[in-house]
Amino acid sequence: MANQEELIPIYIMGKRYDVPASLTIMKAMEWAGYTLVRGVGCRGGFCGACATVYRIKDDPKLYFGLACQTVVKPEMYLGQIPFFPAKRASYDITKLEPIAATLFTTYPETLRCLGCGTCTKACPQELNVKGYMAAAMRGDITLVANMSFDCIMCGLCAARCPAEEPQYNIAILARRLYGRYLAPRSPHLAERVEEIQSGKFDAEIQNLKSLDFNALKERYSAREIEA
Ligand code: SF4
Ligand code: SF4
Ligand code: FES
Repeated sequence: MANQEELIPIYIMGKRYDVPASLTIMKAMEWAGYTLVRGVGCRGGFCGACATVYRIKDDPKLYFGLACQTVVKPEMYLGQIPFFPAKRASYDITKLEPIAATLFTTYPETLRCLGCGTCTKACPQELNVKGYMAAAMRGDITLVANMSFDCIMCGLCAARCPAEEPQYNIAILARRLYGRYLAPRSPHLAERVEEIQSGKFDAEIQNLKSLDFNALKERYSAREIEA
């Protein structure tokens, strides 16, 4: 039982709570009585809604993590950042060209990056944020897209940047440009979309929709699994 475990002190909005040592920050906050409405989403480390900064008593270093993934530590002082007000440009991706100038005109501040690396230290996904910003300064859209692929848009990099860069918004522009214009097309995917649109699977889908829970379960267990 959680409440028979060792309890450790943590501080939420400056107030002390004694919480079970095995909990994540998110579960500890709920255990302490908070109902999370903002600052929570997938609970699995994917959505970036639960960015958290924290300090440990008598340790000057500022630490970063996701509340749903980081286990509490004694004397942890927590600050949640459910949203960071970084610059976010509006654009119609169908009207943009996949060239360096698009990055620079949409986000002119890209070229102000100092190369200090603070963003990389802040990233809970351990992305090389400084590296993808350097690629952005060179206008290498494909490299920015690949290097930032695992970005969860938490905003912690922007929160720490001395040049006030919106790194993750620059990166998602690069990924959109890459996805729409530069990524190699898959002939298999195009064929499958054509098959779907021509109604090839309609009868099978209708059949599946008519099955009850147990029959569906049986079909699922008996499915073919690729080696
Ligand atoms: S923190 Fe800002 S200035 Fe420093 S490397 Fe990252 S984007 Fe560049
Ligand atoms: S690159 Fe920035 S926004 Fe993306 S996961 Fe890392 S810190 Fe969060
Ligand atoms: S709740 Fe989605 S990453 Fe933590």
